[in-house]
Amino acid sequence: MKLIFFTCQNSPFRGLGGRDTINNMEKVIVAESLTKRFGHFTAVDHISFEVEKGEIFGFLGANGAGKTTAMRMLCGLSKQTSGKGVVAGFDIASQPELVKRNIGYMSQKFSLYGDLKVWENIELFGGIYGMTDEQIKLKTDELMIKLNFEEERNKLVSSLPLGFKQKLAFSVAIFHNPRVVFLDEPTGGVDPITRRKFWELIYDATAHGITVFVTTHYMDEAEYCDRVSIMVDGRIEALDSPANLKKQYQAKNMDEVFQQLARKAKRVDS
Ligand SMILES: Nc1ncnc2c1ncn2[C@@H]1O[C@H](COP(=O)(O)OP(=O)(O)OP(=O)(O)O)[C@@H](O)[C@H]1O
Ligand SMILES: [Mg+2]
Repeated sequence: MKLIFFTCQNSPFRGLGGRDTINNMEKVIVAESLTKRFGHFTAVDHISFEVEKGEIFGFLGANGAGKTTAMRMLCGLSKQTSGKGVVAGFDIASQPELVKRNIGYMSQKFSLYGDLKVWENIELFGGIYGMTDEQIKLKTDELMIKLNFEEERNKLVSSLPLGFKQKLAFSVAIFHNPRVVFLDEPTGGVDPITRRKFWELIYDATAHGITVFVTTHYMDEAEYCDRVSIMVDGRIEALDSPANLKKQYQAKNMDEVFQQLARKAKRVDS
């Protein structure tokens, strides 16, 4: 078994969550030759990797590389054409409902209800996750303080700035304390300060034992991940820690690594 000892050397939040050492080597995500075809087109092409408990795993790739398609399979939302996936200990093909119950998912498209208030969204999703009214109330109060959202509690979600919405969507995705949370471009379109604050929430979640699987097009965020995979035309072309990838590709930063790999892409998507 490959022994992986995760420390996030580049993180500006290093030390904040006390997550420098991960002792439990439990595999939370296992993908083995996972493949998805749409007709004759192979969107995800035999991808294999493992993610350990408490890890922040960055899932990178250009537009159309196959990130969302792969993530939807891992979340039990779309059945693979071939290959195998195990998430939170459950088989994605034969136990998708158990997978869904043990994960959080923040989709690429905003997933909360804009025409419901902040607290109504939390109550709705808490109920869907099977939490009791008492648990929901307690956790909502805690969350409003943590996010500094007390004034927003009674506002319609549609009226909030994008950064607030994303923080709320993430908090709702982990409200039920899932084993793993899948984040599909969670910080798309927001400014660098807000993105950095969002990453503080990610680090806080990992400090509480939640594994994070995240896609992003921001290469500064790739540096914050423990390990990163880079997908090109449905295949994983590289997978390692940011430090090792930079060494391997003789690059100054992750942007240079990404450029070298993504340049090979034949698939054009927007
Ligand atoms: N339901 C579908 N039917 C046919 N083709 C699809 C379907 N869903 C996705 N694709 C195609 O599969 C490829 C991968 O799409 P996917 O959305 O997974 O990419 P992505 O890496 O998430 O891209 P982005 O960074 O733009 O979100 C694309 O070429 C896309 O057009
Ligand atoms: Mg996508």
